[in-house]
Amino acid sequence: MVVYQIYPRSFQDSDGDGSGDLRGVVERLDHVAALGADAIWLSPFYPSPWADGGYDVAVYQGVDPRFGTLSDADALIAAAHQRGLEVLFDVVPCHTSIEHPWFREHPDWYVWSDRDGPQNNWRATFGGPAWSRDPVSGGWYLHSFYPEQPDLNWRNPEVPKAFGEVLRFWLARGVDGFRIDALDRLLKDPQLRDDPPADGPPDLPEAHMDAGLAPRNSRNAPDIGTAVGQLRAAAPEALLVGEVYLLSDGLAPYLEHLDACFSFELLHAPWEADRVRAAIAAAAATGQAAWVLSNHDFPRLPDRVGPQNVRAAALLLLTLPGTAFLYQGDELGMADGADGGHDRAGRDRHRAPMPWDATDNHGFTAGEPWLPVDAPADGTAEQQAGDPASMLAWYQALIALRRTLDGDVEVLDAAPGVVAFRRGKHVIALNLGGEPQPPPAVREVVLATPLSDAVALPPGGAIVAVG
Ligand code: GLC
Repeated sequence: MVVYQIYPRSFQDSDGDGSGDLRGVVERLDHVAALGADAIWLSPFYPSPWADGGYDVAVYQGVDPRFGTLSDADALIAAAHQRGLEVLFDVVPCHTSIEHPWFREHPDWYVWSDRDGPQNNWRATFGGPAWSRDPVSGGWYLHSFYPEQPDLNWRNPEVPKAFGEVLRFWLARGVDGFRIDALDRLLKDPQLRDDPPADGPPDLPEAHMDAGLAPRNSRNAPDIGTAVGQLRAAAPEALLVGEVYLLSDGLAPYLEHLDACFSFELLHAPWEADRVRAAIAAAAATGQAAWVLSNHDFPRLPDRVGPQNVRAAALLLLTLPGTAFLYQGDELGMADGADGGHDRAGRDRHRAPMPWDATDNHGFTAGEPWLPVDAPADGTAEQQAGDPASMLAWYQALIALRRTLDGDVEVLDAAPGVVAFRRGKHVIALNLGGEPQPPPAVREVVLATPLSDAVALPPGGAIVAVG
């Protein structure tokens, strides 16, 4: 499957308020269908005070007025299905917004310190202690992310029960599956013990690297599978993809219940052949990798791998077996945009609105856009649509080619700087190094970056071949 991630606030505005909305998504679904995607994943559009870009949910079973209404959500699901697109919604079981009624009505559904102060030394993902004082009750509550996002206590059986209702609500409206947020945070050490000092750099980059602690007790408890299994029990037939921020070799308890987990190991691998090779091998070994190279949390591809490597990165993403997630705008070669001062962790840059055409604000909104809209170097969607050499055409060709690939990944020995692997009768090779390399011995090149030819694989070059 190819899943296209939509960040609804930045996709298409239909009512001129400067923010994308659900009707806007429907207006642009043909773009997604023409790309050849199989499904869409929508980042949260639920009622939210927007302390964390919508990941601070105040009502799980509703639509924020800025995005539309419940009937707009129904219409979106129907419009996607009409185009043969499955629909994944984003659910956030780890925490609610502090404005969610549960926080006042059911304080025992949350995690509290039994002291007049933090219970332990845990740090919040975006900096500062993971404990804050509730000014109303005076108690100290746990928040793995921003203070506006108190963590739910999944060890209280009422919580999985209530969350099961959330999943069933959306399934009954026709949703096909869920991307499940911050899953490794669902269960922590039952005794809330301190995190030990770190004995090296973190496994994956952390937003705040300075804490010097190994997050061994603050997430990914040994019995985490229990909570993941409770989510599965509420949605036995749905496609469930976990956002689990761990290395591939730690995903087994999650994958036992889920269809797939994102491979953050590959997303974060420096663009060096040996690191990329190792990340592919580790994720492929799970047999349930959801491949992803970009999303609303991390720098865009041109900013991470360099503009000269973007086509090769797309080729890699879309030739690996299983599920591939593609973030809106990547198909246009979008780079990071401007910081709008909304997200305190600096992630506005990865959430710039879509540049559709040559009209005002590139067709994103008739109003004042919530973040600046810039056209990428490769041009707007409209410009690229008519150009067979465009980035958009490259993504379309790769997605079409993907349908013809089969077989597991077999990573091949290759020249320094080159990542090569076999899938069935196909060989895929890309040059991540700085020197031209001989291409692998192949019979017939099926697809190559315009830079490549059969004689040399230049830096940034990539091919799919039969051989
Ligand atoms: C996930 C989301 C991110 C959010 C965090 C807390 O990592 O992708 O945007 O800030 O969870 O909900």
